[in-house]
Amino acid sequence: MQQVNLGMIGGGTVGSGVFHALQLNGALLALRIGVPVAVRKVAVKAFNEPRPYEIPRSLMTTDWREVVNDPEVHIVSELAGGTTLAREIILSALRLGKPVITANKALLSAHGEELFAATKEHGANLYYEASVCGGIPIIKSLREGFVGNRITALYGIVNGTCNYILTRMKLEGADFGAVLADAQRQGYAETPPDLDIDGWDSQHKIGILASLSHGFWVRPEDIYVEGIRHISALDIKFADELGYTIKLLGIIKMAESGKRKEKSSCRVQVSVYPTLVPNAHVLAGVNHVFNAVFVRGDIVGDTLFYGRGAGKDATASAVLSDLADAALDLKFVSKHRVPPFVPHECDGAVLPIEAVVSSYFVRLNVVDKPGVLAKIAAVFGESRIGISSVIQPEGHEGASVPLIFMLHHATNGAVAGALKKIGRLSVVKGQPVMLRVETFE
Ligand code: HSE
Repeated sequence: MQQVNLGMIGGGTVGSGVFHALQLNGALLALRIGVPVAVRKVAVKAFNEPRPYEIPRSLMTTDWREVVNDPEVHIVSELAGGTTLAREIILSALRLGKPVITANKALLSAHGEELFAATKEHGANLYYEASVCGGIPIIKSLREGFVGNRITALYGIVNGTCNYILTRMKLEGADFGAVLADAQRQGYAETPPDLDIDGWDSQHKIGILASLSHGFWVRPEDIYVEGIRHISALDIKFADELGYTIKLLGIIKMAESGKRKEKSSCRVQVSVYPTLVPNAHVLAGVNHVFNAVFVRGDIVGDTLFYGRGAGKDATASAVLSDLADAALDLKFVSKHRVPPFVPHECDGAVLPIEAVVSSYFVRLNVVDKPGVLAKIAAVFGESRIGISSVIQPEGHEGASVPLIFMLHHATNGAVAGALKKIGRLSVVKGQPVMLRVETFE
C-alpha cells in the first residue's frame, strides 16, 4: 500500500484535534508504521462551526456519505458523537468493508454487540481506544499488554468532571452545588451536567473495560451506578479526618471464579460509586481533571495508568494509535489480528450489588442523648455487621449531632437492610448517608 487515506466524520473539537495532530506528527507516524496516512475528506456539521484547529475548506463536506462512500477513503473515523447517526455511519462503513475508528463510548455501551457482530460479518475492524480515558492507552493495554493475565481487579477514576469537582470540594471545603456551578462557568463541567455527575459517562467506560477484562459483554443495565450529587462537604471532611479521600471509582472485581459444568465461570462486581480511598493509596492523589486506572493482573500484579481522560489533544493521541493499527492491518492484510471484542467467558455474570461485599462509612444525624449509640449498634449487631470504629466528632452540639460508623466487610444487601431499620429509629434524624470504603486488598 502506497498511502492510507482517512475519511473523517466530525470536524469539531476532537476531529480538528486529530487533523492537527496528524499535521504535527503525521510524518513521524509514517516513519514508524512504514506507510503515509493522509486525510482525504472531513464531514462537518457546518463549514464555519467553531473548532480549535483549522481544517482546510477544500477537505470539508457536510455530507457524511460522500466520505464513507469515497472509494479512495480506506479508513473512516467517527468522531461526531451521538448514538443514532453515529451508529448508521459506522454500520455503513463496515458494510463497505472499511475499518472504523470511534471515540464514542455511549454508542459502544448501547450497541457494542451489534457493531462487533457487523465487523465479523463484513470483515472490517472497529477501533475504539479513544472511547475510554482519552489519552490513556487502556484498551490496548487490556487487550494486548495484559493478554496473558486474568484481571482480578480494576479501579478507575474515569470521569474528569467528577474528579475535578471532588478535588475542589476537598481542597476548598466547599459544597457540591457551589463547585459545580463554578466548574460550569469555567467550562470544566457541561450544562446540563447529568451524564458526568450522575455516573453515566463512567458507566459507559467501565462497561467497556469490564467486557474486555472478563470476556463477556457487560450490559449497562447490569452496572450499579451512583453519582456524586449527594456528596457533602461534611462527608469529605469526616472522611479526610479518618484518613480517606472520596473518589468516584469504577470498580471491576472478580468475586469468585471456578469450574462449573466443565465451563469456566466468573462472577464480577461491576459498579460505579463514590468511594472512600485510603489517603496513602495512589488513587487518592489523582486530582483535578486527571483520570487513572489501577489494574491488577494475576501474573503482572498491580499496575497504574494516569493521564488526561478528555480533551482534543489527549483524545487525538488515542485516535492516532488506532489509525496506526488500522493502517498496519490494511498494509499487512490482517484485518482481524486484534478483533474489537473476543467473547471468551461463556459463563460470566455481573454480581448484583446486594451481593457485593464492601466496607462502609455511615454518617447519621442523631439526637444527642444517652442510649442512642447502643440502639444503633444493636441493629448492626442483629444484622451481623461488625463495627470497626465509631466517632462522634467534637464541636457538634445541639439538638442533633453527627455520628460516624466505620463498618467491617458486609454485603450491600445486609447494610442496606440495617440502615433502613436505623433510619426508622426516632433518635435518628434524616436519612443515613452510606458510602463504601475500598481497601484494595
Ligand atoms: N465528560 C467526560 C469527563 C469526558 O468528564 O471525563 C468524556 O468522556
